[in-house]
Amino acid sequence: MTASILAPSPAGISAAAKALAAGRLVAFPTETVYGLGASAIDDRAVAAIFAAKKRPSFNPLIIHLADTGAASRLVRMDERAQLLAERFWPGPLTLVLPRAAGSPVSLLASVGLETLAIRVPLHPVAAHLLRAFDGPVAAPSANPSGRLSPTMATHVREWLGDQVAIILDGGPTPIGVESTIVDLSGATSRLLRPGGLPVEEIESVIGPLAEPEASTAPRAPGMLASHYAPDLPLRLNATGVDRDEALLAFGPEAPSGARMTLNLSASGNLTEAAANLFAHLRLLDASGAARIAVMPVPTRGLGRAINDRLRRAAGPRPGFQG
Ligand code: TXA
Ligand code: MG
Repeated sequence: MTASILAPSPAGISAAAKALAAGRLVAFPTETVYGLGASAIDDRAVAAIFAAKKRPSFNPLIIHLADTGAASRLVRMDERAQLLAERFWPGPLTLVLPRAAGSPVSLLASVGLETLAIRVPLHPVAAHLLRAFDGPVAAPSANPSGRLSPTMATHVREWLGDQVAIILDGGPTPIGVESTIVDLSGATSRLLRPGGLPVEEIESVIGPLAEPEASTAPRAPGMLASHYAPDLPLRLNATGVDRDEALLAFGPEAPSGARMTLNLSASGNLTEAAANLFAHLRLLDASGAARIAVMPVPTRGLGRAINDRLRRAAGPRPGFQG
C-alpha cells in the first residue's frame, strides 16, 4: 500500500472519514504536528497504529475529539478539567482523566490504564475530519517511534507512506511541537509534557502544576531519555561552531563557519522557533555534518517545550529507536 496524499477538500475529508470507518489509518494535520489516526473504538485499527509506529506497547495514545461534549462520554471531567476545556479547547492541550464507566474506547489505546488522554484539536482539517467521522480518533504523532514528529505531509509519506491509507495535506503545522499534557487523574495536577500551550497559561487557570511522579513506569513515555531523536548527535548550548558541524541557530547572532546553518528564528521569536524546530532538525540531520550544534534557546513560554525536545534529542540512546 502506498498512501494517497489528498487535499483537505470536502471530497478528501470524506474519503479520509470513510477510511477511518473501515479501520484504516489516516494521517492528518493538527495545529501541533501531524497525527497518525485510527478509529479509537476499533481494536484492530488501534493495533495497526502500534505496528506502523513500532511503538513500545506500554505507550498509550491520545484520543482526539470534535468537541468537549464528546469528552464527557469517554472520561470523567472534574471542575479543573471543565475550566481548562472552556479556556483552551479546541487547542494544543491534552488532559489525562479517569476513564468513564462504559467508555467505548479500545482498551488497547490506553494500554490498560484507568485513564485516557484526550484533546480537541484546533486545526480546521482535524476538526472537519473529526466531525465527518463522528467518533473518537486515536492518534499519536505520525512518526516512527523515537523519531522526530512530522510537521509536513511529506515527512509522513517518507517514513510511514506504506502503512497509511490516506495522508491529508494541510501544509506545515502552525505550532510545530506536540500538545502540552496535564494529568488531572489524581488530586494533584501534574505536567506530564510541556508543549504547544505554555505552562504559565494553564497555571493561570488552575494554579501550579506539579512535576510528574519520578517513580512510576513511563506514564507519558515522552519521558524516555531519548525520544525525539535525529540520527546525528546533538551538542547543546553551543556558542561557537566547528566546520564539520551543522548549526541550529537561534536569534540574530548566529556564529558563521558551520557546514550548514538553519535559524529557528533570527528575530528570537519562540513561536516561530517552535514551528521550525522539527523540520530544521530533519534538514540538518541530512546535511552530512558530524553533529548538530544547537544554540541556547530561552526557557520562557514555548521555549520550555523546545528545550525539552532538544534535551531528549540529545539524550543517551539506550537502543530505543523502535
Ligand atoms: O500534539 C499532540 O499531542 C500530537 C497530535 C497528533 O495530537 N500527538 C502526540 O501523540 O504527540 P504521541 O502519542 O506522540 O504522544 C502522546 C503522549 C505519549 O507520551 C503518551 O504516553 C501520553 O501522551 N499518554 C497517552 N495516554 C496517556 C495516559 N492515559 N496517561 C498518561 N500519558 C498518556
Ligand atoms: Mg510522539
